[in-house]
Amino acid sequence: MEQSRIAHSIGIALDRFIKNNQEQFQYASGELSQLLRDIALASKVVNREVNKAGLIDIMGALGSQNSGGDEQQKLDVLANIRFTRALTKGGEVCALISEESESFVDLNNEGKYMIAIDPLDGSSNIDVNVSIGTIFSIYRRKSPTGTPIREEDILQKGSEQVASGYILYGSSTMLVYTTGHGVNGFTYEPTLGEYFLSHPDLKMPEEGKIFSVNEGPANSFPAAVKQYVQYCKDKETYIARYIGSLVADFHRNMLKGGIYIYPANSHNPKGKLRLMYECNALAFIAEQAGGKATDGKIRILDIQPTTLHQRTPFYVGSLRMVEKAESFC
Ligand code: AHG
Ligand code: MN
Ligand code: MN
Repeated sequence: MEQSRIAHSIGIALDRFIKNNQEQFQYASGELSQLLRDIALASKVVNREVNKAGLIDIMGALGSQNSGGDEQQKLDVLANIRFTRALTKGGEVCALISEESESFVDLNNEGKYMIAIDPLDGSSNIDVNVSIGTIFSIYRRKSPTGTPIREEDILQKGSEQVASGYILYGSSTMLVYTTGHGVNGFTYEPTLGEYFLSHPDLKMPEEGKIFSVNEGPANSFPAAVKQYVQYCKDKETYIARYIGSLVADFHRNMLKGGIYIYPANSHNPKGKLRLMYECNALAFIAEQAGGKATDGKIRILDIQPTTLHQRTPFYVGSLRMVEKAESFC
């Protein structure tokens, strides 16, 4: 008793947590565990870059003259390099879909997993010191290992994800992930260089007060969306919050209760967000936390992708709020 008063436990480390829960995976061979560790490691490197972004921006020419070339890149390209390298070295991944690559990237033909990633989400917020993130989805490949990658390995529905997650580079850095057995959140302790379990078994409140939407293009929203946004404004208890980094907006709404919407508009007739490396991962987490994700009509996880960079309207968050929004569509 006395001991716990003078030295609080800092909780279970991510590595230990992954190991302890490995038997929950359908194919518990340890490779998915290793893959999650690789992502965590790459995120620590990216976190380091993110934290010095302001200095690099001030001294842009110095940053661009470093050897190796990486530091010459913008942070979202740099993050792509960091994650790609970590996943290449790990060997568990056969193919990678990234926001930063036109077509999928072949990695290790012996790898059992396919990954879709948004290496740096919310990149317009980098220069102004506002929270940004990384989003990832993990799938089992369908074709046998050692054979060439097929379309069916790449264009999988969100419902086939075996794990998904995000890293939020915010006031603290967090890694949140699911393997289909609930959602757990880990906070990075920079002096120890480790993530520790800080948000076990995260659940999204069924109802909330926050609505998050960029109303800039509201004049060209579909009529149903205009009506829904008006409904939110008419609710005196509702408040509007919009950061412009999907990961940060989603994370806040998951903890506090809320809805995030990115509907179609005249510039983006299918919305702006990408199904394969933004929406699916967060939809999986939302559902695992008791929330909901839809394109207005169809469950996000049930949409069959036909192209890597396909966009979709996105409504995600607290169950009752998303149901209400859907009722307008
Ligand atoms: P990215 O930085 O990966 O391109 O993603 C930006 C996305 C998402 O993070 C955010 O929610 C949305 O774009 C913001 O778009 P608007 O500026 O149109 O609101
Ligand atoms: Mn993004
Ligand atoms: Mn991005």
